Amino acid sequence: MEFLPEALETYIENHTTPEPEVLKKLNRETYAHVIMPRMLSGHLQGKFLKMLTTMIQPKQVLEIGTFTGYSGISIAEGLGEDCTLHTIDINEELTGMVKQYVQESGQEKKVKIYTGDALQIIPTIDVVFDMVFIDADKKNYSNYYDMFFDKVSKGGYILADNVLWSGKVVEKSAKPDTDTKSILEFNDKITNDPRVENVLVPIRDGIMIARKLV
Ligand SMILES: C[S@@+](CC[C@H](N)C(=O)[O-])C[C@H]1O[C@@H](n2cnc3c(N)ncnc32)[C@H](O)[C@@H]1O
Repeated sequence: MEFLPEALETYIENHTTPEPEVLKKLNRETYAHVIMPRMLSGHLQGKFLKMLTTMIQPKQVLEIGTFTGYSGISIAEGLGEDCTLHTIDINEELTGMVKQYVQESGQEKKVKIYTGDALQIIPTIDVVFDMVFIDADKKNYSNYYDMFFDKVSKGGYILADNVLWSGKVVEKSAKPDTDTKSILEFNDKITNDPRVENVLVPIRDGIMIARKLV
């Protein structure tokens, strides 16, 4: 769902540094060959993630939900040469495409690709993360948060995508669907967690940004 009128979306994109050719190609190939292509972050969010990464200067980043690699490559573009993005996806059919595009983007030295269930893989990564981007199955957002929280450095950043869930977070439904319920619980959990301060940024489908205080 687009929250802004199309003309404004276009204006915003036109006043954002253009998408690199490799990401344009990845976008096209995802839309041509992959199921549910709208899951891909896209130009504006990709640039936003790169900008945040450049500002935060994390050494180690965790991404949960690689999909075809758009957000991961965008984050890696903002990382220093000695830094690593650990990116996890359960869909093994996409691993080959992700490897190809990470290579084409020239970011392969910075990106470690994991294939499998993030709930199984996160405990095996023995690293302190300075930034985490959650963009996988909504029902596990809170579980992921609990699982990696102690692995995030003090002052580290936790980002979560789709926290407006196409506006469903404010629909008055007596019985919200499972994903909406999970996102509502996650947003409340972060906002009520005294260990972080947070801001919900209405870019695309909403990005929650939390900074770890402890
Ligand atoms: C919204 S897409 C990620 C989009 C990607 N971050 C981007 O911006 O291009 C969500 C991804 O999460 C993955 N996923 C779902 N459940 C998962 C799990 N339990 N462990 C790891 N990945 C999972 C899906 O396979 C899918 O590729």
